[in-house]
Amino acid sequence: MTRFTYLILLLSFLILFLSGCAKETSRYRIGVSQCSDDEWRHQVNQEIIRESMFYDGVSVEIRTVKDDTEAQKQDIRYFIDQAVDLIVVAPNEAAPMTAIIEEAYDKGIAIIVFDRNILSDKYTAWVGADNYEIGKSVGNYIASMLEGKGRVAELTGLAGSTPAIDRHQGFMSAISHYPSIELLCQEDAGWLREPAGEKMNIILSRFNHIDVIYAQNDRMAAGAYAAALQHKREGDMNFIGIDALPGEGYGLDLVEKGVLDATFIYPTGGDKIIQIAMDILEGRDFPRETILNTAVVDHTNARVMTLQTHQISALDDKIRTLNGKIDIYLSRYSTQQILLYGSLLILALFAGLLLMVIKSLRAKNRLNKELSRQKEQLEQQRDQLIDLSKQLEEATHAKLVFFTNISHDFRTPLTLVADPIDYLLADKSLSEEQSQLLQLVKRNVNILLRLVNQILDFRKFENGKLEFHPSQVNLAEVLQSWNSSFLTVAQKKHIHFSFDVQADVTNYLMLADVEKLERIYYNLLSNALKFTPENGKISVTLSFISAENRFLLKIANTGSLISPEHIRSIFDRFYKIDRHHSGSGIGLALVKAFVELHEGTITVESDEKAGTVFTLNFPTIKSELATIDTHAVESISLPDFSMGDLPEEEAYDPTKLSLLVIDDNADIRMYIRGLLQHEYSILEASNGMEGIRKAMKYVPDVIVSDVMMPGIDGVECCRRLKKELQTCHIPIILLTACSLDEQRIQGYNGGADSYISKPFSSQVLQSRIKNLIDSNKRIKQVLNDNQISVRENVCDMDKDFVEKFKRLIEENLNDTALNVEDLGKQMGLSRVQLYRKIKSLTNYAPNELLRATRLRKAISLLSSTELSIAEVCYEVGFTSPSYFSKCYKEQYGETPTDFLKKKKQ
Ligand code: FRU
Repeated sequence: MTRFTYLILLLSFLILFLSGCAKETSRYRIGVSQCSDDEWRHQVNQEIIRESMFYDGVSVEIRTVKDDTEAQKQDIRYFIDQAVDLIVVAPNEAAPMTAIIEEAYDKGIAIIVFDRNILSDKYTAWVGADNYEIGKSVGNYIASMLEGKGRVAELTGLAGSTPAIDRHQGFMSAISHYPSIELLCQEDAGWLREPAGEKMNIILSRFNHIDVIYAQNDRMAAGAYAAALQHKREGDMNFIGIDALPGEGYGLDLVEKGVLDATFIYPTGGDKIIQIAMDILEGRDFPRETILNTAVVDHTNARVMTLQTHQISALDDKIRTLNGKIDIYLSRYSTQQILLYGSLLILALFAGLLLMVIKSLRAKNRLNKELSRQKEQLEQQRDQLIDLSKQLEEATHAKLVFFTNISHDFRTPLTLVADPIDYLLADKSLSEEQSQLLQLVKRNVNILLRLVNQILDFRKFENGKLEFHPSQVNLAEVLQSWNSSFLTVAQKKHIHFSFDVQADVTNYLMLADVEKLERIYYNLLSNALKFTPENGKISVTLSFISAENRFLLKIANTGSLISPEHIRSIFDRFYKIDRHHSGSGIGLALVKAFVELHEGTITVESDEKAGTVFTLNFPTIKSELATIDTHAVESISLPDFSMGDLPEEEAYDPTKLSLLVIDDNADIRMYIRGLLQHEYSILEASNGMEGIRKAMKYVPDVIVSDVMMPGIDGVECCRRLKKELQTCHIPIILLTACSLDEQRIQGYNGGADSYISKPFSSQVLQSRIKNLIDSNKRIKQVLNDNQISVRENVCDMDKDFVEKFKRLIEENLNDTALNVEDLGKQMGLSRVQLYRKIKSLTNYAPNELLRATRLRKAISLLSSTELSIAEVCYEVGFTSPSYFSKCYKEQYGETPTDFLKKKKQ
């Protein structure tokens, strides 16, 4: 993680922390459901809110309906859905509200029922005044006021609400002790003023004499009084109410003004409700029923009560003001808190930044130190490399000087060899063979001379002393004249060689050093010939690019691929593609130098399909005399050319011992052929693959192979032949220029039987071949007393082979149709392969072995059974008894009849 990410994380954490400080989440949520919307309820709500402020993390939501039971049920449902922690409810009517309150209770929500009640005890606590007691107090008060005698009319609250029922019953229980007190009527005014006025009108019309109007609350009492006032009968009767709320127009004020004769305090108790709620929520003990006190207020104490409530409300105001101030302080405090945290945050950020800066400075210092250390190291290494390359350069230089000197030394003797050869070749009395040998010597002396010259040129090139002797040259003409020296080799390898010249080429000449040009051409074409496989193609095309005024010479050959990694360095001096490629590695470097000397360029491309193409580009000069006959050189193309010699199948003489020469150098093959063709039937292969193919086909008696060859080298070739059943017995001589022990070991590990270093003596080669063939002959197992067995030092594979062959003959001995073809098939070899293999291992042809085995079995049957000659003859697989007797006599010097006669005697 980057430092920047750390900083962002820190920032986010602090922001979260700050917002956590700024906003207080509520621990407890309390829902309050009021059944009516009046002053008494307002007072309860105020008390609830004020009291809840004393507790941290308490939120209160109050929902009020206007004496509507269905609407109140929805409020309770709302609180259930909100999953509040506690519901405070004053149920409008007892029965219809019971179910929904029970549901909330069952769902685990704490329930405080206050003021009114439900028809169940599924609530957590109940708070309120004892309405029965209040009703009773009212009854007793009226009885005493009427001195036990009088007429009373009652205005009751909502019929289904419990205070209405309880207040009536309490009242009745009190007046039941006064039989002279008569309850005139009981009218339901639903706790409201207007309905009370209407009901009062009816009461007044029904009753002429009424002593007391008992209204179950002050609101209804005031409504009744107003109606009586209208009928001017207010002075005829007393009015009693319940609630005793302070404030103008409410209970206390009405008593003071003489509208009501008395009222009874119905305590609101909002503070108590919250105290009990908090006890419940915080798990403290709490009373399940809390009964609030009541008291009568009449003209005797109304004034005091008013004063007290004024005082209380003044105190309330002060508390409110104080609360307001506290709120302001709190909000200031929280602003300051935010500011503080904000400053802390900035400080932390700043500190973080500072830390990062310090750290990066330190890292930078460390890095700088490390870099300068590495720089020093690199400088040291560079100096070492410079020293090394100087040493290398000096060594190379010394080597080059050495080679140059040696080359100089070689030149004179080589010239002295080359010249007399020409002289000798002119001698007409030379035999064909002598002349061929001399040609071979001449060719190779020339090669040596060229190599020596190449080294000398390279030296000049290295010293920048290459000379350039230009003359105007007709390029097409000179190239064509050089082609002839390559044709013989091309023909021998069955290579199709073509030379194409574009028509307008001949209008131009080239300023060239002919000798160097020849060297360029010779080098590229020799390479092409060397790497083109048999039946491949070499094409030379010469064209003129008019836009550039230059010659374009392309030398392309098929079947060879130079990989891209090698192509890059192919023109570098001493570069060799791999150890299989012979050569000094300076030929192409020199070609490039020569091309550049002509202000030309040379490039090479190679791919598997098209083969390899060298493209040369030379400047031209306009020829004033188009001296060349363009038609004569436009296109010479040599057709596919079969070797002048007989095809190998025909040249191969199976009666002679056979020898396979595997070498990519045609001269070496030719030389060995010349040396040995009188004694052996010679087979040739120009590469490892072809060598393996021919060895499998002809199963020669001995193989002589070069080690360094492109493709499969001699060691690998040897390894593969020694693994094959058909060829594993063939002695292999490896012939190579590498004379190091390590390479000899490699050769022997590959299974080679002998290793001869070049240059070799023809006599050594001849006697080594003879020895190997003789020793192979010696180890061949002949039929000894007509027994086929295998000598100890024949390889396991050959032993198994002979054993298998013996078994096969014996198992099928009485099969007259058994022939060598079938035996070969069953051994997995062709007739010829089986013949060669068995012959080389046993000195006998398979047929001879088959016949000898039959005769051996015959003699054993004749001596151990009573079978007749004819029976034995068929038993051992002969088809005619006379032929059987003939063969028997040839083998054992007597006929079977003679044998039986002797046996009887
Ligand atoms: C207020 C009120 C009071 C009465 C009480 C009975 O809504 O009507 O006047 O005493 O309810 O529940």
